[in-house]
Parts: sequence; structure tokens; C-alpha cells
Amino acid sequence: MDKSLLARTAAAMVARGKGVLAADESSGTCETRFKTINTACTEESRRIYRGLLFTTPGAEQFISGVILYDETIRQKTDDGVLFPDYMAKKGILPGIKVDTGAKNLALCPGEKVTEGLDGLRERLAGYFKLGARFAKWRAVIAIGEGNPALPSHTCLYANAHALARYAALCQEASIVPMIEPEVLLDGGHSIERCEDVTEATLRATYAAMAAHNVSSEHLILKTSMVVSGKTCARQAGADEVAERTMRVLKRTVPASQPGVVFLSGGQSDVSATAHLNAMAAMKGLPWPLTFSYSRALQNPALNAWKGQNANIGAAQRAFHHRAQMNSLAAQGKWKPELERKAA
Ligand code: 13P
Repeated sequence: MDKSLLARTAAAMVARGKGVLAADESSGTCETRFKTINTACTEESRRIYRGLLFTTPGAEQFISGVILYDETIRQKTDDGVLFPDYMAKKGILPGIKVDTGAKNLALCPGEKVTEGLDGLRERLAGYFKLGARFAKWRAVIAIGEGNPALPSHTCLYANAHALARYAALCQEASIVPMIEPEVLLDGGHSIERCEDVTEATLRATYAAMAAHNVSSEHLILKTSMVVSGKTCARQAGADEVAERTMRVLKRTVPASQPGVVFLSGGQSDVSATAHLNAMAAMKGLPWPLTFSYSRALQNPALNAWKGQNANIGAAQRAFHHRAQMNSLAAQGKWKPELERKAA
């Protein structure tokens, strides 16, 4: 465990004005995304699409790291350079998704537990050799209003336990764990309920981190924001989202942690930017905040690309714009007018 490397990696991930691109969609998720643009999802079309994102001129001003998928970390640019080597030359940290997906949790209908611990020590050693310096594990927590209401205690603690075991293995391998307990925004629940569930999730997560001796100085939290359920009649505004999210994080996340990043979780591109901006503009926060978006960074690029080589330049411009907007938001310097100017 190289603590100096871990500290340098974590600090670089959340460097001022920079954030993380999540490009670790499984091939199945990629297929769903590519269907929306009528593009066949093959190993080569995935390589072309990821390559266009990674080689976007100037992206390194806004992007500190990229989360890759097992297939992607082994793929190459058109010039034959392995993606992680290409990124490292540009000063972008290669990261890797190491969980193997959320599976049904036994005896807990409607709930999932994330798997992937078997053989993880050996896989991490292999990924380190390929250049990965941080690793992501996503747990999913659903909110349900039935009787009993979800999430169950079982779901929170099973996922927290797995997150802690993965995080400890990462630190042992000198790879920074990016722990992602995602509270899903699907459902008609209120923002108050999302706040309660997010707090319970983070309490369970950090209790498990402590129980497994995971060092908070070498850890990045990737969290969902506290938002209204997708189909809730009352949709909270950006200031309320920011206030509730920060209240929960201050209660639960150690001040010794180097940073917090957010997932977009199905929010619109501009909402994800506006919410981040409202939080980053707050004074006296214990940690730097930034983005680690997949959909909210990629949607406009994917729609501009449409699977056509002729559209690569337009797709790169769309990606550059969203990365720049989110870079400003991570510094509390974004304004809605900046979006209109670009349109
Ligand atoms: P979204 O930003 O699309 O939620 O994706 C982030 C992520 O990495 C999900 O695991």
C-alpha cells in the first residue's frame, strides 16, 4: 500500500476545475444507449465512441480521470495506443469499474446487492499494471413506498459490507477506491424521504469502512444527490437540492476525506450542472466537490455522433461543452446564460 501514491491520486481526481468522466458502461448498458441513436453496439463501435470522447482536444483541462470498463482499458486509439497509456500522457488518470453488477438480494424482493469480490485482489493487480489508479464499485439502493418500505436494513448493510471489502482491497493495491452507493431517483417519493434514505445509506457505508480499516484519507465518495423522486409532484429546486445534500454529507462523510464526486443518475444534463454549481458555491465545505457523470456528460455527444464517423467533430464539441460547463459548476462559477450562448 503506497500511501503517497494514493494521496496524490485522490488529490488529482478532485483537482480544482476538474472532474471525472464515467465511461464504464457495461456492454449491455452501451447497447441500450446505442439503440437510442440506431447504432449497432459492437466491440469496434464501442471503441470508436469511447475513443472520440477520450481524444477530444482540450478535454484534459476539465477531466481529471476516466472510469473505464474491462473491455475499454484493453482497447486502443486509432493510432494503436492503449487508452490508459494515451490518457496518462495527457495527464488524465485511468480508472476502472471493478464490480460485476448488482444482483437480486436473496429474500429481499425488489432489492439488489453488488457482486464482484471473488478474485478481486488478483484483478486489481492486473488493472494496476494496465495503468488504473482508481477503481469504482456501484451499489444501488432503491426507495420503495410499500409495506415494508424499501430500502431494508439488510440491503443497506449487505451493500455497505461489500463496498468496504472492495475499498480495503483497493487501498492494499495502491488504487484509490471510488465508493458509489447510489440511491436511485426512480419513484414518487418526496425529497424528504430521499434525504432520510441517503443519510441511512451513508451511515451504513462509513460504519463499514471503519470496521474494515479503510483509510478515509485515501477514499473518494461518489454519491447521488438528495433530489425529489422522478415522479413526485413536487420537484425541489437547485437550492433545496444543494442544501439537503450538503446537510447529509456533512453529517456522514469524514472531513479527512480528499473529495466528493457526484453521479447524475438520470437527471437532465443542465439540472446535473445546476445542482453541482449550487453546492460548490457554498462556503466552508470540508471537501472539494466535483462531477463524475456518465449520462449528463455524454448525452449530447452521443446524440451528435449518431454512429457516424463524419459526426465525430460535432460530438467532440458537444462533449467539450458539457465538460467545460461542469468544470465551471465544480467551482460555483456556472450560469444558465452560458448554456444559451452555446446553443
Ligand atoms: P450517471 O452519471 O449516468 O448516473 O452514471 C454515473 C455512473 O458511473 C453510474 O455508475
